Amino acid sequence: MAKKIGILTSGGDCPGLNAAIRGVCRAGQDHFGMEFTGFLNGFRGLVFDESIELEPPMLSSILTEGGTILGTSRDKPHRMPVDGKTKDMIDVAVETYRRHELDGLVCIGGGGTMKNALRLMKAGLDVVTLPKTIDNDVARTDVTFGFDTAVEIATEAIDRLHSTAMSHQRVIVVELMGHRAGWLALCAGLASGSDIVLIPEIPYDLDSVAEALHRRTRAGKNFSIVAVAEGAMSKDQALRVGELVEAKHKAKNKDEKKKISRKLDRFRQEHVGNTTALTRQLEELTGLESRMTILGHLQRGGTPSAGDRILATNLGTCCAESIQRDEYGVMMAVRGEEVEAVPLEEMAGVKKLVPLDHALVRSARQVRTCFGD
Ligand code: F6P
Repeated sequence: MAKKIGILTSGGDCPGLNAAIRGVCRAGQDHFGMEFTGFLNGFRGLVFDESIELEPPMLSSILTEGGTILGTSRDKPHRMPVDGKTKDMIDVAVETYRRHELDGLVCIGGGGTMKNALRLMKAGLDVVTLPKTIDNDVARTDVTFGFDTAVEIATEAIDRLHSTAMSHQRVIVVELMGHRAGWLALCAGLASGSDIVLIPEIPYDLDSVAEALHRRTRAGKNFSIVAVAEGAMSKDQALRVGELVEAKHKAKNKDEKKKISRKLDRFRQEHVGNTTALTRQLEELTGLESRMTILGHLQRGGTPSAGDRILATNLGTCCAESIQRDEYGVMMAVRGEEVEAVPLEEMAGVKKLVPLDHALVRSARQVRTCFGD
């Protein structure tokens, strides 16, 4: 009997999603006779049964396209917005799965998607996931697709900022995405030769950053590039975040936990990733004319790099093989040259941050990159 498989993309989009959909479906259809139903706009499509049949012609010419032909959203099955309220719709998602007589569900997404897939697995569904995100922060995989393209885009943007910073003898502070991880800022910073790189894993001291700018001026360099990850924090901010995270862990009950969580979110919103304030502070401290650029969603749009097309295709075809072997409850992960299946239970909820002793951090320091610590 042909297997019937559901497939969805969830969380923020990134280049390579269509390549992954094509990889899973083409391998599944051509080699194992599988049939695929695509659910629209992430878990929302599964809950509300909004779907399309992914016939072979639909997969033609999507390899090179950005975005996702299935649409995406950040909606979670256990906290789905319904009629202005938030409802647990896991049972409804399970009903849709059963109604379509599915043998498995492929969820393509980042850290949040892994947690949601695990919830569905615990509710009885057979799931396999693929790791995507420009943040590269999914645990237990060397890399996620989307990251390579984003590094390329950000590097090219910073190269362009370099020439204008030089012409006007300015400091340009450029904000990169990455959520709470510094992979994107670290790699694009290294590739573009940014003078200062600020990442969440290495809290910075404003005076040290200002001193690094002064050092460059004294050395006759009359411009500078500061690449800052959106989640970068000063030492004081990191201290406060640390205190709140600890208080959350120690909370005696659910209500207290929720209250501290809200406090933490508010603190992050108001203080962390405020690149406008950071630029102003640096200008005041150094007297150097400064400008700010936020790269934003540019880093997620457009055609995937060759590397991401290859990675997404490889993960997709390995996913079809995993389904054929009835191997579920796993994420297809990159380990060196190989793709391996990692149990969702082991990695969901774990974030991959930049280790302080990572080779690229060492390497960046050796070419005079300042981390502001
Ligand atoms: O997770 C990918 C990402 O682009 C993060 O880098 C960023 O913090 C977030 O998504 C932005 O989300 P949204 O597109 O929902 O504003």
